[in-house]
Amino acid sequence: MRITITRPDDWHLHVRDGSVLPHVLAHTVRRFARAIIMPNLTPPIVHVADASAYRDRIRAALPAGAEFEPLMTLYLTDATSPNEIERAAEAPFVHAVKLYPAGATTNSAEGVTRLAHVYNVLEKMQRLGLPLLIHGEVTSRDVDVFDREKVFIDETLSKLVNEFPALRIVFEHISTREAADFVREAREGVAATITCHHLLYSRSAMFAGGLRPHYYCLPVLKREAHRQALIAAATSGNPRFFLGTDSAPHAREAKQSACGCAGVFTAHAGIELYAEVFEAAAALDRLQPFSSEFGADFYRLARNRDTLTLERKSWRVPESYPFGDSAVQPLRAGEQIQWQLVARNT
Ligand code: NCD
Ligand code: ZN
Repeated sequence: MRITITRPDDWHLHVRDGSVLPHVLAHTVRRFARAIIMPNLTPPIVHVADASAYRDRIRAALPAGAEFEPLMTLYLTDATSPNEIERAAEAPFVHAVKLYPAGATTNSAEGVTRLAHVYNVLEKMQRLGLPLLIHGEVTSRDVDVFDREKVFIDETLSKLVNEFPALRIVFEHISTREAADFVREAREGVAATITCHHLLYSRSAMFAGGLRPHYYCLPVLKREAHRQALIAAATSGNPRFFLGTDSAPHAREAKQSACGCAGVFTAHAGIELYAEVFEAAAALDRLQPFSSEFGADFYRLARNRDTLTLERKSWRVPESYPFGDSAVQPLRAGEQIQWQLVARNT
């Protein structure tokens, strides 16, 4: 069996920087036409000038002949100025601003410590129509790691959505039933990305026969009931839910460590893994809108014109892929994936 869909976009992606950049990008550009590039480098991408330079490095690292557009974002800090937001809104290559609560995840130390510090910036973004992308987890050590997304909704997000009634918001990589419900019922202008790993695995995968660091990401995988709620949201045909892989590569030794990094690498099968989910839910006809339409519409960008063909034929994922001088272990390393890429047609 084959399916052909409009070429998809990835609305949440980490490509890193430096020597790993060409290795990481090669996987994404084979599948996706565009991707929202996360700004959590060290140091983070906080100014439009940083985003412009990073974009140049990404473009220089693309395989010859690749047709791929990096959609850049800024990293919001307590010190971000409304003037920088004005410059961002004017820059054609900046498409959003990312809010990391300080300490929430990889390279978030310079994130926002108190929302009160960025109110004038959010006000400006609301006025200029620049979307705010949110890592929606509280950072308090007193809150159980499995509850941090739900508590963020109750303590922060619901208030934010009301106080800035016209701010366009993407609740990134949602991982709970509460988040899916919140987005479905929220006012206009609130959307969410959903990763393939949160659709494919529940938290038991992290502990199957032993501790499995390659399933560790943030937000952390949740109970099966949450996974079912995410599948229902992704396959519902509701345009508020769209694809964002959150593919987040780390060198194998950084994952397999006494204090392993958070992040799952899925760019090697960034559309194929979603095809598995949609097939299992008997919703393959909804894969194209979720992957190739709703995100573009939210970001007010034209949908892609070219197509991608996938075949229902299993293949074995390599144990690792090159990652600079190291290697990155992909999701399903050494195991089968049920769908494969056949062709891209222009
Ligand atoms: C991301 C990373 O490694 O940059 N990690 C992750 O587990 N998703 C950061 C993020 O998106 O939270
Ligand atoms: Zn991410």
